[in-house]
Amino acid sequence: MQMMNNTFEEFNEEELQSLRIQWDKIVHYRHECFGLKLFLRLLDLHPEYLCLFGFTWDEFDYHETARLRAHGINVMYMLNMLFDNLNDMDMIDELICKLIRLHLMRGIQKSWFDDICEPFETVLREFSQKLNIEHPEFIRKAFMFVKNRMQLLYDDNMAQVLLDQSSDISETY
Ligand code: HEM
Repeated sequence: MQMMNNTFEEFNEEELQSLRIQWDKIVHYRHECFGLKLFLRLLDLHPEYLCLFGFTWDEFDYHETARLRAHGINVMYMLNMLFDNLNDMDMIDELICKLIRLHLMRGIQKSWFDDICEPFETVLREFSQKLNIEHPEFIRKAFMFVKNRMQLLYDDNMAQVLLDQSSDISETY
């Protein structure tokens, strides 16, 4: 309950409504995929992450791949789900823990999430102009909230995954 109160203080109802309308505009923009652009920018700035997505360093045609586009769409709908639930902290944490585990399994470290901030800012600026987004600051705030919450809960989830693994092993023997 305490946690829920915190979130209500963090985002007021007017902000949440505006955030949802604006994010919906971005998600359903037919001409370009925000999620794809976001990760293309990340990979341009950090080619060391290419291998995480199954690409090699010298592969340049990843810009065109359906795999990265599908991933981009997935990321957008995940953010949609999170943004729709910002008034329910328990639900947010449930969703975030699943998301953390998904990244943990792929060896992604929590500090790497800082590298998504600049790409997010750049692509948000571009889309805000194109789509006449009035309050990009609400979107920025919601995204940063999610990213920070993921980083905050990362180590707890890591410990839990390790515990689960060790109990799996001891059950085997
Ligand atoms: C707030 C930021 C992020 C969100 C909301 C997010 C969301 C997601 C989601 C929903 C998936 C599952 C969808 C799928 O597998 O297609 C996913 C997978 C993945 N994410 Fe993230 N992610 C974030 C940040 C990052 C960062 C910073 C990295 C790398 C440094 C990363 C690397 C990956 C990889 C490698 C996969 C697996 C892709 C695949 O198997 O094709 N993510 N992410």
